[in-house]
Amino acid sequence: MTKSALAGVVLASTTALFGTAALADLNLYCSAQEEWCQIMEKSFEEATGIDVAMTRKSSGETFAQVQAEASNPKGDIWWGGTGDPHLQAAEEDLTEPYVSPMRDQLHPWAIAQATSAGDKTIGIYSGALGFGYNTDMLAKAGLPAPACWEDLTKPEYKGMVQMANPNSSGTAYTTLASMVQLFGEDGGFDYMKRLHANINQYTKSGSAPIKAAGAGETLIGIVFMHDAVAQTVAGFPVATVAPCEGTGYEIGSMSIIKGARNMDEAKKFYDWALSVEAQDLALQVNAFQVMSNVGAAKSDKAPDMAAIKLIDYDFKKYGSSDERKRLLSKWDSDVSTLPQ
Ligand code: G6P
Repeated sequence: MTKSALAGVVLASTTALFGTAALADLNLYCSAQEEWCQIMEKSFEEATGIDVAMTRKSSGETFAQVQAEASNPKGDIWWGGTGDPHLQAAEEDLTEPYVSPMRDQLHPWAIAQATSAGDKTIGIYSGALGFGYNTDMLAKAGLPAPACWEDLTKPEYKGMVQMANPNSSGTAYTTLASMVQLFGEDGGFDYMKRLHANINQYTKSGSAPIKAAGAGETLIGIVFMHDAVAQTVAGFPVATVAPCEGTGYEIGSMSIIKGARNMDEAKKFYDWALSVEAQDLALQVNAFQVMSNVGAAKSDKAPDMAAIKLIDYDFKKYGSSDERKRLLSKWDSDVSTLPQ
């Protein structure tokens, strides 16, 4: 082999070895908020010496990616994001069953998520849906404070409400499924249509609308209540509302991807992510969800789930493949296309 041919081979194999993120020891797909994803990545690396490549995408987007990569999985573990698409992934056999030795440290709702999915996913946190609004903007506009879901459809808030797109975002899918459970199929879709008339933008990520409210770019953002609290704690003029009619909630989940190339590392991350040590990192990044380990720290700033009127969210039904696909395509055809 000539010198230059040899150099070419060396270069090609070097690129193959070091050139892509897929060569990390663990490929983490993360669907919680960016800051939380980052601290989980860094802290796991520090705790274990395992090199992690992390990608943050919303829950529905990550589901679509895992589905598209099924014959050649690039991710090893999917941590965070609403539970519904994790349940759908379990049903579609895209994720791997695993019973962690950490399981007996968890709240019953986190374990129930696992048992309902043949151990292919598990609960890592929970949080109630609601909305938040910018108190300065509200005062300047002389508008009444919204207190109920129904209020968000009033003409005085036209163009002032923001939510995510339920196809990409688990937060927004939870909103759609919650409205159907609160008001019935027809009532729920009727509500989504009337709400659509007031929406200024459907964002990709679930928490973006309340960040926009904090920045004064929208008056109201429909988000998980803990995401609105995080804005207030960060110093923005944001008030958090538990809607008067009652509301849905999420069980944020974690799943190992079927056919993961780094299965041992994925299981290590899974066990670690269920520990008190890992779950206590949440408060360092203002993530005010209720954590699944019974020993994890609680913040007095976190929304008090016991004081919120929660519906009996049917995770099995709304996390099923048929129902999620049906609701999303109905929202696409009947709601998103309406003129505003
Ligand atoms: C935020 C919330 C999480 C939720 C996630 C879903 O990060 O704090 O509790 O699981 O949104 O993200 P998505 O972009 O899919 O709505």
